[in-house]
Amino acid sequence: MSSQPSGRIRLHSLNFRPFLTEENIQERVRELGNTLRERLGEGNPSFVVMLKGAFVFAADLVRASGLGGEVCFVRTSSYAGTESAGRVKLLVAPEPELIRGHDVVLVEDIVDSGLTMQAFLPMLEAMEPSSITLVTLLHKPEAQRVEVPIDLIGFSIPSKFVVGYGLDYDGLGRHLPAIYQLDEEY
Ligand code: IMP
Repeated sequence: MSSQPSGRIRLHSLNFRPFLTEENIQERVRELGNTLRERLGEGNPSFVVMLKGAFVFAADLVRASGLGGEVCFVRTSSYAGTESAGRVKLLVAPEPELIRGHDVVLVEDIVDSGLTMQAFLPMLEAMEPSSITLVTLLHKPEAQRVEVPIDLIGFSIPSKFVVGYGLDYDGLGRHLPAIYQLDEEY
């Protein structure tokens, strides 16, 4: 990774420009955490975190919510580049005992085409949670190809590839505290 005076960064051969600052993100995550506490504060929810991209968001969201439930992880097959492959496989499954009979907070980094959630939600429902609250940090409404019942959205954004705050471009950029957008004009 290389950075430039404008704040732009270069990952592999692509340029990205600053999009959401660390402060923007942290403020919104605090709001989302408060909303979750208001909705689920009486219970003991299980957080189901979509790997790999949602791990940073989930770590902040769990703490912002103040909710003391368990955490488990799901991994589905992901993109090879910047385009959705449109096929989803379950690589890591959540523990059934953390789902059955629990309120589940499903934590996703980004809903793009919606195909990942369309494939995964029926698998989760089959494990018989009491309820599912789907929280996504980012949503690309113009890219969505299928209906997804999203309960809470951090930011609705244009259909451009983004990196940072857990999201990567071919393995780079997850560590960045801010979010950057693909800059095709540069
Ligand atoms: P969907 O199945 O198209 O909704 O995409 C969901 C997954 O694709 C996310 O969990 C991300 O891992 C990945 N993804 C989609 N858009 C982006 C992006 O702009 N940057 C990084 N990863 C993305």
